[in-house]
Amino acid sequence: MQKLIDKAKIEHTLSKSEIIAILKDNSINDYLFKTADEIRKNYTGDEVYLRALIEFSNICRCDCKYCGIRRDNKNVSRYRLEKDEILKLADFAVQSGYKTIVLQSGEDMFFSAEYLAEIIKEIKQNDVAVTLSIGERTFEEYKILKDAGADRFLLRIETTDENLYGQMHPQMSLANRKQCLFNLKKLGYETGTGSLVGLPGQTLESLADDILFYKELDADMIGIGPLIVHPETPLKDEKNGDLILAIKVLALTRLLLPDINIPATTAMETLHREGRIWALKAGANVIMPNVTFENCKKNYEIYPNKVSVDYESLKTDLAKIGRTISSKKGFRGNPDNSGRFNSSPAGRGKLTRCKNTEKEYDSFGS
Ligand code: 5AD
Repeated sequence: MQKLIDKAKIEHTLSKSEIIAILKDNSINDYLFKTADEIRKNYTGDEVYLRALIEFSNICRCDCKYCGIRRDNKNVSRYRLEKDEILKLADFAVQSGYKTIVLQSGEDMFFSAEYLAEIIKEIKQNDVAVTLSIGERTFEEYKILKDAGADRFLLRIETTDENLYGQMHPQMSLANRKQCLFNLKKLGYETGTGSLVGLPGQTLESLADDILFYKELDADMIGIGPLIVHPETPLKDEKNGDLILAIKVLALTRLLLPDINIPATTAMETLHREGRIWALKAGANVIMPNVTFENCKKNYEIYPNKVSVDYESLKTDLAKIGRTISSKKGFRGNPDNSGRFNSSPAGRGKLTRCKNTEKEYDSFGS
């Protein structure tokens, strides 16, 4: 098994059966993680890129079985930030030194491509990269957003198992999901995808297919997280995903796509307090702190007990493993040198939304 891992370290390829063999064998985990860590160091270095996450609307037309902000969950207080509020958060993130702003929301069609384009253009007046994570749109809409200056897009495939995909995502299709991802690539976005590890009925075979799909897409970013069961969803009686298995998928992804950006996801840390550090020592090189208004964050409950990143403890934890916080935008394989963290990012005090969060939304924008 070590030979297989050594081969992948040099060639960056593995067959489906080889991936499955590595996923099955837990006696080689330390060697796998150590090798992925070496590749990460060789290709992306010891700097960790921070991405400031703004969750600007928790209104969603989708009804994904695992997700706490799914359309049919009536026990969520829904909010939708206004343009000036989003810009205020983005400005806060820029002033704090972040070089990437991630705009994330449910699939809220109130935000037309044209309206989002206005917001992107304003944010792009600053020297920052903009990443979108807003779900499925048409090629034309993705083009409008790209032309407005968006640099990157996150859209997890979640699972490449067609049956399972259909079960988990009512009224959605794997084929369309893939089409969206290839459209994003074609439009020149740095394209991020990834999987949920631990969906009920998910097999190691399908996780191997997921990893091979990342390679087929030539994904620029991969976010992998264990499922965390949300009590207000149809999956409420299921088990949480296996954190170690999720980290193995991450490490294998690093072996096959050596120069991409891979976050240590919040879901990993939510399952275990060391989860983020383990991920950073097994191939991850990105962290995405949440800069959303304090009184909105709690309503963006994709899964329960989502942890926050504390900047000072992050810096200390990173120093312990020989890593530093980067001041660059951190594009794939092409780090730039602009900008510098001028103070503690996320350490400038917390912002609270001043507008009424109790506003009723009669339409979910679909
Ligand atoms: N547990 C873990 N991750 C989840 N996501 C959605 N719901 C859950 C959950 N219950 C992930 C999905 C989505 C990302 C934004 O959050 O993979 O793509």
